[in-house]
Amino acid sequence: MTVATPTPASAHPPRLPLSVAEARTRYLGGRGYLAACTLGLPTIDTIAAMRADAEKWARGEACAAGYAEVVERVRIGFADLVGVTPDRVAIGSQTSVMAAVVAASVPDGAEVLVPTGDFSSMVFPFLAQAHRGVVVRQVALADLAPSVTANTWLVAFSLVQSATGTVADADAITASARRHGAFTLCDTTQATGWMPVDAARFDATVCHSYKWLGAPRGVAFFTATSAFADRLNPANAGWYAGEDVWGSCYGPAMSLAADARRFDVSPAWPAWVGAEPAIDLFRSLDLAEVRAHTVRLGDALCDGLGLARLGQAIVSWPDAGGTDLARLTAAGLTASGRAGRARVAFHLWNDSDDVARAVAALRP
Ligand SMILES: Cc1ncc(COP(=O)(O)O)c(C=O)c1O
Repeated sequence: MTVATPTPASAHPPRLPLSVAEARTRYLGGRGYLAACTLGLPTIDTIAAMRADAEKWARGEACAAGYAEVVERVRIGFADLVGVTPDRVAIGSQTSVMAAVVAASVPDGAEVLVPTGDFSSMVFPFLAQAHRGVVVRQVALADLAPSVTANTWLVAFSLVQSATGTVADADAITASARRHGAFTLCDTTQATGWMPVDAARFDATVCHSYKWLGAPRGVAFFTATSAFADRLNPANAGWYAGEDVWGSCYGPAMSLAADARRFDVSPAWPAWVGAEPAIDLFRSLDLAEVRAHTVRLGDALCDGLGLARLGQAIVSWPDAGGTDLARLTAAGLTASGRAGRARVAFHLWNDSDDVARAVAALRP
């Protein structure tokens, strides 16, 4: 079987534009669930697709070729969602694995600049290259752009910080990197789904879709410009990275795909079935409208707690002892605690009732 060459997204138009109000009707629950930043929720379409797939599998009717078609449709959909062509998208299961491909290609002794406290899947792959002399310099997120120097080979950062929800100044970071001849790798896991994301502005991106895109865990994407991809060794290559996937099942020769598919890691099949309606939903939405909805709720919570407005879908504040998280939990709300902070997230299924319940729990 040869995996079909991805066709441009325009050949697979998204469904009709959907409003936030309409999208909200696709969720079964979500009342009091303030944890999209930990684990997103599936729509009824994702649940139905996964149930149907499990039954098909049980009947002995699931097959690799069918799953490959799903994967290619999702690849095209994700490409469309983040503004790149499908030939620039590789698929895999975790961001750390994809960041590790970039890390393995950092030249010996080169510098990688990362924000202090970024999510470890974006940091550890580079720290793990210390034996080759790769230097990981960590600076505060706000200092990232001015800290790039001519010695920096790569700036690796999350567009939205996992622990705090802070949105990186991508304009300043990419401009500074370009000025100094450094490459950029951006993790959009905590951004794609609640705000517009343009992956084309970075040399490479990684995104795991189980949070804000509501896909099952195990559906991750890597994008890279053709020029940056040429600098990378496809260190994870397996059968799925071959030009002809089924012709690549055995050695001794390796003939990898010419496009970004050479970075593919073989898919966790059922997860991709659930991802298809998930990605389609977000392709159908105006992400500026989703951002307005989520930020309105985040800012309303800030108002209720007497915090400065953050303009973020994720709101976090110091909670070293976990008291506030315990209060939210006791009130029946699902929130999270990270890096000594309480953290809540607002997504499509949330509304002002969730804000009111959180404020009542925290400021009784
Ligand atoms: C920014 C970011 N990237 C990635 C991940 C997930 O990492 P992985 O895909 O390696 O499991 C998370 C999870 O919280 C995250 O916040």
